[in-house]
Amino acid sequence: MGLPVASERPDDVVDLDVEAIRADFPILSRQVNGKPLAYLDSGNTSQKPRQVVEAMSRFAQESNANIARAVHQLGTEANDAFEGARQKVADFIHAPRAEEVVFTKNSTEAINLVAYSMLGATLTGGDPRLRLGPGDEIVISEMEHHSNIVPWQMLCERTGATLKWFSITDSGRLDDAEAATLITERTKLVSFVHMSNILGTVNPTSRITQRAREVGALVLLDASQSVPHMPVDVVACDVDFVAFTGHKMCGPTGIGVLWGKHELLEIMPPFLGGGSMIGTVTMEKSTYAPPPARFEAGTPPIIEAVGLGAAVDYLSSLDMRAVQWHEKELVAYALPALESVPGVRIIGPRVPIGRGGAISFDLEGVHPHDVGQVLDAHGVAVRVGHHCAKPTCARFGVAATTRASFYLYTTRDEIDRLVDALQQTRKVFG
Ligand code: ALA
Repeated sequence: MGLPVASERPDDVVDLDVEAIRADFPILSRQVNGKPLAYLDSGNTSQKPRQVVEAMSRFAQESNANIARAVHQLGTEANDAFEGARQKVADFIHAPRAEEVVFTKNSTEAINLVAYSMLGATLTGGDPRLRLGPGDEIVISEMEHHSNIVPWQMLCERTGATLKWFSITDSGRLDDAEAATLITERTKLVSFVHMSNILGTVNPTSRITQRAREVGALVLLDASQSVPHMPVDVVACDVDFVAFTGHKMCGPTGIGVLWGKHELLEIMPPFLGGGSMIGTVTMEKSTYAPPPARFEAGTPPIIEAVGLGAAVDYLSSLDMRAVQWHEKELVAYALPALESVPGVRIIGPRVPIGRGGAISFDLEGVHPHDVGQVLDAHGVAVRVGHHCAKPTCARFGVAATTRASFYLYTTRDEIDRLVDALQQTRKVFG
């Protein structure tokens, strides 16, 4: 299945200075329910370092203005800050051109942008690569977040195309051997998750992208949980689109990113119409601006872009391989520790290989909402529920799970506190 092999940390990957990093996140020193906070919900949203908060505050207090409209000094400063953020994001993901970075509201909007653009191309006789009809197929997987399922279901309903999906193995892997039969000449688009938000699985991309290339299908990678946690090179991934979001990578909410190959963005019809995305407008007809402006109708998330740029600066000041290895080592520590609690069943890969720092589990006989409440009473913050991945839950026969998710500021001590609190939960519920 093309899994990454177990490996030792390479010599040139340094240890993160976690104590210094934690000092940048004031929220991590607060108390919750009389206990020090152990924040293990970064897969849901990450905490923000003061560098990000200060950059946004400075912009609001010193340079706030709208972009692309104002000729005054503040407008120029705002424009430079916004476009500077675009360049930083492009550099972070190794995009060949800054114009390939489209700012959206979040990952969900980034994926919907592609889906609605394909619908637009279908309705208006656009480029054949984007058009869909009966007999055409879209391929996703059973481990997708709802944001990478529902837009494609809607697109299929509206065009008559058919949705197909990769299944998940018992060990929580996407079976990419299915690529040979699932992806065929009928496939127009393959859209799959890089790192599962619920299972933690990191999917190898090459076998799927190689097959998609053979049949001429487009490929979208949902990198919402990977870009914050590991080095991601969009060119090396050999995909056409990558979606991710700012708030899971130390940035603010309200901003996400669609990266797309320029040659594709150029032929794609717009998603939302309005100001800033036009070439010219008459009462009869409008023409559209080149990308990325074509896809950024209305006043964009300017202050959020400044915050995302600062988040990228923050992460770039560390080695993303060091972030990845820090989490890998935390997972290697956490998996056996969690399994030492009677009744814990890990939902997802049980080895720290080919997976990231999101660990879902079931505690036999205790509803995840009860688990979450007891953990909260101990100051341990986790996410409980279906994690917007109901088909994955159904695959493993559970309605919900408890999920602990780690980041660059997570410590072993916090994992010990999670395990201790689970032992207490076990005692409370028998
Ligand atoms: N998708 C986010 C999570 O997994 C919200 O928690």
